[in-house]
Amino acid sequence: MINGRKVILSGIQPSSSSITLGNYLGALINWVKLQNEYDCCFSIVDLHAITVRQAPQELRANCLSLLAQYLACGIDAQKNIIFIQSHVPAHAELAWILNCYTQMGELARMTQFKDKSKKHHDNINAGLFTYPVLMAADILLYQADLVPVGSDQKQHLEITRDIAERFNSIYGDVFTIPDGYIPKNAARIMSLQDPLSKMSKSDPNPNGCIALLDSPEVIIKKIKRAVTDSDAHVCYGEEKYGVNNLLNIYCAVTSKSIEDAVFEFEGKGYGDFKRAVGEAVVEALSPIQQRYCDLMNNRDYLESVYKAGAQKAGAVADRTMNKVKKKVGFIV
Ligand code: TYM
Repeated sequence: MINGRKVILSGIQPSSSSITLGNYLGALINWVKLQNEYDCCFSIVDLHAITVRQAPQELRANCLSLLAQYLACGIDAQKNIIFIQSHVPAHAELAWILNCYTQMGELARMTQFKDKSKKHHDNINAGLFTYPVLMAADILLYQADLVPVGSDQKQHLEITRDIAERFNSIYGDVFTIPDGYIPKNAARIMSLQDPLSKMSKSDPNPNGCIALLDSPEVIIKKIKRAVTDSDAHVCYGEEKYGVNNLLNIYCAVTSKSIEDAVFEFEGKGYGDFKRAVGEAVVEALSPIQQRYCDLMNNRDYLESVYKAGAQKAGAVADRTMNKVKKKVGFIV
């Protein structure tokens, strides 16, 4: 609890100039929905981003752009704490302490570490290995009750809970044990070109991934080219990975149920279906893109948001840090 209300913490890495439709539908869209019920902290997790090599100028630009995307999607800067992770030193500080309460074996089991080590085999750095501990620090610093994320972060949430429970069992009730909030249908938006892999900005085929800032023409084109099947029947089914994915996307952007969507496309072919999905995505993203452009033209405002966010986040984080330091035996 921050002000007597339950707390949410979540974050996205500023590792490209635009988030993906997967980031939006798996995470951000739910932050917007939940912000009225919870005290929310939304972070731009730049410390996490440097586990993979980033060009400094680009990283700076991506952080500002991500902030504008948060706001453009409807995250309210007055109601919520929006901050850049590296502006709050307590994240790195708590991560170090928690490293000493985390086992190598636990970290070695993380599938994201295994995947990223394969992808970046020339740079398997220690940060990549201890990444989940930093994520645990992000969440536990704010005593978060709920963490809205896509299903790829489930394992990281589990290790966060394990670390927190271990710490609490030694020192008493220091940390709130967080729960995940993972959407039902949009938990894992898949690549449009390979619907067995997650939609990701690092997709080798650019047609597999829709960016939040893609133009309407590009969005329509990518969805038109999406891989489906030879069944030509719009329904949710086993082995209909491509169609299931398009239905999930359609329902997430229109707030319709899968049943209603299937009924709507009864007797229609994939051409009509894809056109409707494309138009629905464009309709959902266009107002966001407009607001994004306005915000990017107002650098002073963006700066004022992240500066205020750093101050507010720092105050909450310092409270937890103080408690942790006393518990482990540091002189404070
Ligand atoms: P990141 O930056 O990879 O992704 C940000 C959010 O988007 C979700 N997501 C998806 N959801 C559905 N379908 C997809 N294809 C898809 N791709 C990504 C992710 O699940 C995530 O919710 N480790 C985190 C960032 C992080 C964090 C945190 C999150 C750092 N500290 C504390 C929550 C709380 C990550 O790399 O997300």
